[in-house]
Amino acid sequence: MVGILITAGPTREYLDDVRFLSNGSSGRMGSALAEAALADSHTVYLVLGPVELSPPALATVCSVTSALEMQAAAEHWFPQCDIVLAAAAVADFRPLVRQAGKPPRQNAAPSLQLVPNPDIIAGLAVRKGSRVMVGFALESAAASMAQAVARGREKLERKQLDLVVCNRSDAIGMQASEAVLLFADGRQVTLTMQNKSMTAAAIVRASVSLWQQKLRAL
Ligand code: C5P
Repeated sequence: MVGILITAGPTREYLDDVRFLSNGSSGRMGSALAEAALADSHTVYLVLGPVELSPPALATVCSVTSALEMQAAAEHWFPQCDIVLAAAAVADFRPLVRQAGKPPRQNAAPSLQLVPNPDIIAGLAVRKGSRVMVGFALESAAASMAQAVARGREKLERKQLDLVVCNRSDAIGMQASEAVLLFADGRQVTLTMQNKSMTAAAIVRASVSLWQQKLRAL
């Protein structure tokens, strides 16, 4: 049985008690990954941003709001995991200051000072040991698959990942998606348009197989 940590969904970065920066991630891919891992009898720790869907009942779920909370929860479960699947759409920036209450609307557009959020998977990957680290590279729908793959490879190397799942932003919120798996050893496998649960099962199996390879090499 393998311990699998999954980050999923968006994060919310609050400007004040009411307004926030976020994105349209549904958490569906992360939830499908959790279902697929549970179906193969693995132990799942799901760190989930604010989403509408109900997570799989058998997963250990930690619901979070901001990127910093997601990072803390991922750090907490990391030691007991063999594989990390980072499917979350983490906000790149957060407001430098969170104002109290709900400041009233002003006529002049306010300026907003942002600071970068930590890269959660990259921060864990520097201490990965024999763990398998899997990232997702969501590229603009306007990019060709070749451009998306090139950016995915760059991410794989920069973040020290073992596998990057590359797809395009027209996959957001959709039931089906086309994905390319980019492996650190240079292999590339295209998963043709299929529903997210089939894509998720293929990603979980590829990750478990990478983990088994790493164990054999120890
Ligand atoms: O750099 P980019 O945001 O495109 O990288 C996407 C991958 O990195 C995803 O696997 C995502 O979950 C992860 N990520 C993260 N923390 C961030 C930004 C991205 O873990 N702050």
